[in-house]
Amino acid sequence: MRFLITAGPTREAIDPVRYLTNRSSGKMGYALANAAMKAGHEVVLISGPVNLPSPKGCNVLLVESARDMYTAVEKCIRETDVAIFSAAVADYRIAHPADTKIKKNSDELSLKLTKNPDILGSARQEFGFSGFLVGFAAETNNLEENAVGKLTEKGCDLIVANDVSRTDIGFDLDENEVTVFYKGGKSAAIPFGPKSDIAIKLIREIDGQISR
Ligand code: PMT
Repeated sequence: MRFLITAGPTREAIDPVRYLTNRSSGKMGYALANAAMKAGHEVVLISGPVNLPSPKGCNVLLVESARDMYTAVEKCIRETDVAIFSAAVADYRIAHPADTKIKKNSDELSLKLTKNPDILGSARQEFGFSGFLVGFAAETNNLEENAVGKLTEKGCDLIVANDVSRTDIGFDLDENEVTVFYKGGKSAAIPFGPKSDIAIKLIREIDGQISR
């Protein structure tokens, strides 16, 4: 099957030398791309800026901002059977990035933020995607309630909930532990382990759901 996977953070420009971002390393998304390739799938990996080698044999599209990622996903998703959104996309960007480096002339500086497009939330309605849709939910509290809310709101078939309040899993680490919530109410825990193992289990789970 043809997989589209988003990974890593996005960068939202403040001025030509500064940006807003988050702690995503891309490790989870790249592990998913590797696992999907090993399972015999074709993979398009749409990645924000990370320090990771491109998974061999996979078509990697490098992007910077949330709007760049939106455009890349819009372009590729129609050719896709399974779309997995593991990227940590910035919800907001700077409303008016400066054209030149901002000088430290005052003691305070306010930045006005404006909402970025919701890429996963656009998959069904805007992009007309009818394949198998997998979201991620990075939560610090009310994990199940928030994850299930996103699953329903964004039209996912399943959502992978990540408790990012923990310091031993999640952002920028080699290990993870997740709970998968399915459309229809079931859930399954994938225990603590290397992201490469979690990714193999997730791809196996997705393959199993599709072949049912
Ligand atoms: O990259 P690593 O260091 O390995 O860390 C992995 C991870 C913690 C980033 C990953 O496991 C994870 O949880 N990814 C989702 C991060 C996130 O932004 O979650 P969210 O709950 O804010 O977003 C919900 C879903 O909507 C996600 O699938 C996200 O990709 C998507 N989204 C969010 C905002 C937006 N504007 N567009 C989106 O597509």
